[in-house]
Amino acid sequence: MNVEVRDPLVLFMPSGKRGRFPIGTPILDAARQLGVYVESVCGGRATCGRCQIEVQEGNFAKHKIVSSLDHISPKGPKEERYERVRGLADGRRLSCSATVQGDLVVDVPQDTVINAQTIRKAATDRVIERNPAIQMCYVEVDEPDMHKPLGDLDRLKAVLAKDWGWKDLRVAQHIIPEVQKILRKENWAVTAAIHKDMEFSRPTVVALYPGLKNEAYGVACDIGSTTIAMHLVSLLSGRIVASAGAPNPQIRFGEDVMSRVSYVMMNPDGQGAMTAAVHQAVNDLIGKVCAEGGVDRKDIFDSVFVCNPIMHHLFLGIDPTELGQAPFALAVSGAVQGWAHDIGIDINRGARFYLLPCIAGHVGADAAGATLSEGPYRQDKMMLLVDVGTNAEIVLGNKSHVVAASSPTGPAFEGAEISSGQRAAPGAIERVRIDPLTYEPKYRVIGVDKWSDEEGFEEAAKATGVTGICGSAIIEVVAEMYLSGLISEDGVIDGALSASTPRIFQNGRTFSYLLRDGQPRITVTQNDIRAIQLAKAALYAGTKLLMEKQGVETVDTIRFAGAFGSFIDPKYAMVLGLIPDCELTEVKAVGNAAGTGALMALLNRDHRREIEREVSRIEKVETALEPDFQQLFINAMALPNKVDAFPKLAEQVKLPPRKADSEEAGASEATPRRRSREERAARRGRS
Ligand code: FES
Repeated sequence: MNVEVRDPLVLFMPSGKRGRFPIGTPILDAARQLGVYVESVCGGRATCGRCQIEVQEGNFAKHKIVSSLDHISPKGPKEERYERVRGLADGRRLSCSATVQGDLVVDVPQDTVINAQTIRKAATDRVIERNPAIQMCYVEVDEPDMHKPLGDLDRLKAVLAKDWGWKDLRVAQHIIPEVQKILRKENWAVTAAIHKDMEFSRPTVVALYPGLKNEAYGVACDIGSTTIAMHLVSLLSGRIVASAGAPNPQIRFGEDVMSRVSYVMMNPDGQGAMTAAVHQAVNDLIGKVCAEGGVDRKDIFDSVFVCNPIMHHLFLGIDPTELGQAPFALAVSGAVQGWAHDIGIDINRGARFYLLPCIAGHVGADAAGATLSEGPYRQDKMMLLVDVGTNAEIVLGNKSHVVAASSPTGPAFEGAEISSGQRAAPGAIERVRIDPLTYEPKYRVIGVDKWSDEEGFEEAAKATGVTGICGSAIIEVVAEMYLSGLISEDGVIDGALSASTPRIFQNGRTFSYLLRDGQPRITVTQNDIRAIQLAKAALYAGTKLLMEKQGVETVDTIRFAGAFGSFIDPKYAMVLGLIPDCELTEVKAVGNAAGTGALMALLNRDHRREIEREVSRIEKVETALEPDFQQLFINAMALPNKVDAFPKLAEQVKLPPRKADSEEAGASEATPRRRSREERAARRGRS
């Protein structure tokens, strides 16, 4: 009887790709054939150490594989030499030297460190599979031969085609005058940095080095209106080498993006000055991350940027005036890429840049980055993704359909327009609780561990002072005032309570709440509450509009992107009616998701294609044109909402009885005066 002998089965993790390969196949070749990205700079000469893998031993019943160290060839002389000279961690093997000898489960580690680098912090726990647009390729070029009069550059191209399969290579112009010198420096051994992004694009040699160049870096950058955040990443290992942030210097031209557009409209040199300012800031930040990571900025070959539409235009040197008025026309909505040098970014002369696509005139490449990171389009569940800034960007959807909009929340959540408001910084109140019986508050301050009613608080707070209220506390204080009965569902401070607590006091024609007596005196005024109502109503109405577009009454899961989202307590956000009712455990802050999206696009060019495809599919909703928006906004002015119920929240928090429930429909009709006031508020929110 003939028993069929099958080739060994090799499974690569974490990709899960598998295939059968003849005994003796180098593991690197097996990976290549399956499309598993394993780095290699030296082209299998066992000198770069980038191709490391680990064999997982054991019985993997699910995959029907018994994997053992005996199923991989022993170390040969080249691998042993590498281990002797450079060192190889326990269990690690060079996949270019090790061959398949039996069934194997092979782990492709994401942390192959060749030169010890300090890892400052992980920007994300996520493992991002690599497939960068830059590849470093070491080759040994034939020496010139009088009988074969082929130029040095042509012989370089020929060997890159032979050893690495690069066909139809282009060579960046700035390299050509240097080629002869570089080839001769290390005896015809060179490393070419080759850029190839799209499948159909021509690969280009963007840099050339004598000998083995075993480092290549990239930067992923989120240019926010207020802050610019950057990660410096090794393109050869995926490691984040350093991360840093800096204020956006454009603030001096205008606090928010619309005031920056106005500045451009009113000053002939305004756009140029703002473009120069953001380029300078990005270059300074590159200097900072390079200094922190011990990296030469000339070793950065790729850069990915995300930003809101106005920052996007200013960064590219495009006049953003059209974005300041309807129909909010973008000069370019698709992804943009080119030479970093051409837009004033000071990294390697041959480095590239890639800017994610914008979703719409008010929903930018930053929202695209967050969408790539959180992937509503990958979900079965209906996911709401919000990035709260002066303009909230809202994305809602699942596998079948995704819709997106922006809503003008204004700067209230950032502490502007609030009498005691300030940005999150040491000394700012960040948490507030109010006793519903005595109306006495307690609070916590950034930089101080204790609550204000704990012994030693005043002493501990001496260093920072208590200077104001930041965004997270603004939400909490208004929500707590509502929960304790200090304000009605319409957001009106109950002046009658001034008789029972000195915390409520008259302030002109309205009343205020005294949060802290002292220097400075920190109060919550009626105007503050109005500003928060307007901001939260804008966000909620935009969200609700998207829910209507999707035909859903509830969302399954909520992701808060951005710094603001990291500090707010989901419970209070819901009590306020900032977000729709949802299981509290399903509300998560995801930090700088836009930056994570940029990182994904930097490390894996497939993610660029993915977000380009998804952005073209997203249905864009312009809130200003939707007739329902005004009514949704008016409903959302109430706490948490005039018409929408919050049953899941009510299971966790005792909400005050709603007026609409306690007084019957007739009584809940708004008086003409109140109605006109709310409509005025709605108009303000949309302007
Ligand atoms: Fe360079 Fe294996 S590919 S050491």
